[in-house]
Amino acid sequence: MPQVEKKKTLVLLGTGWGSATILKNIDARRFNVVVVSPRNYFLFTPLLPSCTVGTTENRSIMEPIRHIVGKRNVKFYEAECTDVDVANKHLVLERTNPPESALQTNLRTTIPYDYLVVGVGGTYNTFGTPGVEQHACFLKEMGDASKIKRRLKDTIESASFDNISESERDRLLHMVVVGGGPTGVEYAGELHDFLVDDLKKWVPQLANRFKITLIESLPNVLSSFDKKLSDYTKSTFEKNHIDLRTSTMVKEVKEKSVIIQNPDGSTQDLPYGTLVWAAGIRARQFAHTLRSKLPADQTNHRGLLIDNHLRVLGARDIWALGDCTVTENAPLAQVASQQGKWLSKSLNSMTRDASVSDIFAQIDTKTKPFKYSSNGSLAYIGGEKAIAELPFLNGHITAGGPLTSIMWKSYCLWELFSVRSSMSVASDWFRRALFGRTVSVD
Ligand SMILES: Cc1cc2nc3c(=O)[nH]c(=O)nc-3n(C[C@H](O)[C@H](O)[C@H](O)COP(=O)(O)OP(=O)(O)OC[C@H]3O[C@@H](n4cnc5c(N)ncnc54)[C@H](O)[C@@H]3O)c2cc1C
Ligand SMILES: NC(=O)c1ccc[n+]([C@@H]2O[C@H](COP(=O)([O-])OP(=O)(O)OC[C@H]3O[C@@H](n4cnc5c(N)ncnc54)[C@H](O)[C@@H]3O)[C@@H](O)[C@H]2O)c1
Repeated sequence: MPQVEKKKTLVLLGTGWGSATILKNIDARRFNVVVVSPRNYFLFTPLLPSCTVGTTENRSIMEPIRHIVGKRNVKFYEAECTDVDVANKHLVLERTNPPESALQTNLRTTIPYDYLVVGVGGTYNTFGTPGVEQHACFLKEMGDASKIKRRLKDTIESASFDNISESERDRLLHMVVVGGGPTGVEYAGELHDFLVDDLKKWVPQLANRFKITLIESLPNVLSSFDKKLSDYTKSTFEKNHIDLRTSTMVKEVKEKSVIIQNPDGSTQDLPYGTLVWAAGIRARQFAHTLRSKLPADQTNHRGLLIDNHLRVLGARDIWALGDCTVTENAPLAQVASQQGKWLSKSLNSMTRDASVSDIFAQIDTKTKPFKYSSNGSLAYIGGEKAIAELPFLNGHITAGGPLTSIMWKSYCLWELFSVRSSMSVASDWFRRALFGRTVSVD
């Protein structure tokens, strides 16, 4: 009797842009698909800044993994992968229930893999700046956005109290954003909208004292975009009374104030109520754990080195994609999702090819290398304005203003993972237009 070959186990680490795209497209009849992630949902990060002020509801941009899996047979572990044995092909998974959970269990297990895809993404980078970890808010995960929203609500309620000093009121109402990359700029834009559209109506006496400062160490914000767009953002921020401090470096974050170094070299102690650290990202711990197992090939401390078929250098049967890798591409959602599409398509086609006996070894002879094709970059800058840098012929064209904001919104609705999410976001925007935002939180 002919031997039926056992299906190989494909483990996907993460449920972000890279891994969730693979999960959506992989043929689960040909692999035992196992997903491991501390998050049981996919997060649509382009709308994360808008969740901090209630423009978009949190759940609208969270796509449950079970929805992506559908009726296919996929095993999901809500856990973190903390270790890997590359010789014996085993992964260590750990799950710590949150302190508020009634289940006081810390679970640990080991699972085998035949093929592994690492899509664990990046995390915020503090660059070792003192006090950031202890006192700053971040904007990377949904929990971060909820924390900022709660801080905002607490700030407004505390600043409304009668018996606090005026300087304390000003401190509470000072919102500092560190980092003039797209995350910091989009967050400052959303904060401005909340101030103008909502706070001015609810608490006009406080709204006039609400202040937004954005601190950027380089001479321009959005330095990865065309200079025209960075200048346009600067002039929009000036009109919107966002205090933009370029060529200014944050040196230390204290509980109630931040030490900055001004362009002339002098230092200043700025009191703040809420500080959001959006100063860039770095690879997550698991990427470094895997690197440490492959010291001869994994020589870049910024993340995993891969070849142009997304194979982890020095490894066997391990691919990696997205923000945990170091390539010539920027850490972008569209890069991770294109890589996810490429890898799932390659894996699917190779399992159908009878001449393939070793997917990992033969992938470079059976498939064309991955090549990123930019669809352009868009960012929301507040006041119903966005900026866009779009590929055109051999160069690019730029656009900025209210029409670009419609383009940005259309892009978001189009790119959201499901019709359910697109409808939820559209209805959030409609509700916001009719009734305004709310930062009501527990
Ligand atoms: C606020 C914000 C807005 C953005 N807007 C845009 C935009 O408009 N356009 C754009 O192109 N890019 C944007 N980006 C960048 C984009 O989100 C990232 O490039 C993208 O998320 C990278 O995808 P990824 O799959 O590598 O990682 P992620 O999407 O970060 O996913 C990583 C996954 O791995 C999981 N994980 C972490 N550790 C482990 C572990 N040890 N074991 C298992 N799983 C683990 C995480 O829970 C998560 O599910 C934005 C980023 C932010 C923060
Ligand atoms: N709309 C979009 O396309 C979009 C939105 C968000 C993020 N992203 C992508 O996600 C990635 C991360 O973006 P990001 O904005 O979080 O980070 P980033 O690295 O793009 O920007 C961080 C900024 O912080 C500044 N900075 C660092 N340390 C500082 C300090 N001590 N004091 C003052 N400024 C300091 C840096 O000079 C830099 O300009 C990027 O690839 C970005 O393109 C894209």
